Amino acid sequence: MCGIVGYIGDKKAVPVLLHGLSKLEYRGYDSAGVAVLHNDNINIVKTKGRLKALEEILENKSLEGSLGIGHTRWATHGAPSDINSHPHLSQGSSVAVVHNGIIENYLYLKEELEEKGYKFVSETDTETVAHLIDFYLKLGMEFLDAVIKAVDKIEGSYALGVICDSYPDMLIGIRKDSPLVVGLSEGENFIASDMPAILNYTKDIYLLEEREIAVVKKDGVTVYDRNKNVVKKEIFKVNWDVEAAEKGGFDHFMLKEIYEQPKVVKDTFSGRLKEDGIVLDHIDLNMENVNKIYMSACGTASYAAGIGKSVIESICRIPVFTDIASEFRYNNPIIDEKTLVIVVSQSGETADTLAALRLAKEKGAKTLAVVNVVGSSIAREADYVLYTVAGPEIAVASTKAFSAQIAAMYLLGLFFGLKLNKISMEEYRGYASELKELPQKMNTVLQKAGKLKELSDKYLNVKNVFYIGRGLDYLISLEGSLKLKEIAYIHSEPYPAGELKHGPIALIEESTLIVGHLTRKELFEKTISNLKECKARGAKVFAITTEDNGLIGSTADDVFYIPKTSYLFSSILSNIPQQLFAYYMASGLGNDVDKPRNLAKSVTVE
Ligand code: M6R
Repeated sequence: MCGIVGYIGDKKAVPVLLHGLSKLEYRGYDSAGVAVLHNDNINIVKTKGRLKALEEILENKSLEGSLGIGHTRWATHGAPSDINSHPHLSQGSSVAVVHNGIIENYLYLKEELEEKGYKFVSETDTETVAHLIDFYLKLGMEFLDAVIKAVDKIEGSYALGVICDSYPDMLIGIRKDSPLVVGLSEGENFIASDMPAILNYTKDIYLLEEREIAVVKKDGVTVYDRNKNVVKKEIFKVNWDVEAAEKGGFDHFMLKEIYEQPKVVKDTFSGRLKEDGIVLDHIDLNMENVNKIYMSACGTASYAAGIGKSVIESICRIPVFTDIASEFRYNNPIIDEKTLVIVVSQSGETADTLAALRLAKEKGAKTLAVVNVVGSSIAREADYVLYTVAGPEIAVASTKAFSAQIAAMYLLGLFFGLKLNKISMEEYRGYASELKELPQKMNTVLQKAGKLKELSDKYLNVKNVFYIGRGLDYLISLEGSLKLKEIAYIHSEPYPAGELKHGPIALIEESTLIVGHLTRKELFEKTISNLKECKARGAKVFAITTEDNGLIGSTADDVFYIPKTSYLFSSILSNIPQQLFAYYMASGLGNDVDKPRNLAKSVTVE
């Protein structure tokens, strides 16, 4: 996904911009560029490809100047190419713009501007903004007024960084539906779409709200609302540093993040899982007024929501519906004031999840967001927030954030259960003591990572994989299958074990691998029968099951045992072997594990 960084101060802008962009690489991108103002001229260098390609060009073409903007682009309008890369210049090169988001009415604006004589050089929606601002400047407007006027014409989402050759002391940042923050420091200031881009320089941040506009100068920042009233902003102090986001001795961020999971789960429980009940600060929901729950999210977060549904329904016996956010927003869901809508998101910026949240609010539902990134849009807009305490997740493939989301689901299940009097204090204490043991059990699983490495060597050439299970074991199969697809690029399908014989079994052949999840004792025999059906057709079987499964025997070619826990909480353990399996497959195949092809960390467009 696109990333923005902007700088004004006494330093040379290019190294600051390149450093900032390097901290945004994890978001996924296909091209990068910088624009720097020097001697009343804007100079641009941009290129398709990795940041390294941009750095190589800049080594031979030094850009002077202490005011600049930089961008990593993830293509939406127009293919990845040098010309479509940001920054974009206005005709005559007086204005340079970097943009995250999508300008929905850009074709209309483009036509209007072409009629006025503007010539477009790229296929992007962003170029319209540069020309529009230029148009208003030529009408005699001040820079700030021209930017405000231009964004008034825009429909869609944007975070923008803008510089103008006649205003060498100023950088403008503005946002709507796409995040943008301002970094504050002594004699220099910054803008960025994501905090890691500027944390090397400052921990003091202004979080821009919808349609706020920041005029960023070397010695100060003024923030205005859409009507040009000055907004008094509070400084948000960031309490984690860039070091936290470094690889710390692991080959990849993903592996490091997999190993961080016991701590992340412990941290997510910390201060909440108390002797006399679950304490969730600021969540004073009256559950008596809730007659159903909807859960919505995208990708991995939606699988956490699925597990949440199962756990909450089991404990609370209240109906819980789940819908993928991109579907939910157009499905006219039946929700009202008596519905609680829970959205789940690591980034807190996923466009569809944000839209689902907004729809739920419009319909009068109470909303609760389970979010990792503090201060993100979803966290700010939901009625209640339960933060997962996963810290920054750098690898595109979500691992530790997912475990933290599952942990949050367990907390919510018990929290609602107690509020609704569906569990006694004694039952609660039983569940709570099981939860407290999970981090240690997760460590036990991680200690056997070597076995997964061996299995990945054995199955490295596999082309088709099915992940199967029943109930929660099926729900966790969804995540196993996604992980293998997204980083190992191997075709795989998750299936409810009992459903295979209704069609997909036709695909099973000698070279197929079946990953079977078995953590529910009462259903061991059923799922084992399904595994046998696959084996009889030549498939190889790899079972992930609990230590008490004495039945698996020779049905499986390979078995990975996880420690025994209540079936309700088993997913958080059985997920780890499949994460490691996907990781070792991907690294064994030589893939770019942390930045898999075609994927972005944070999907802020629809
Ligand atoms: O930031 P979010 O949790 O809202 O992101 C949702 C999905 O885009 C994300 O989980 C995606 O599926 C990851 N690539 C999974 O590894």
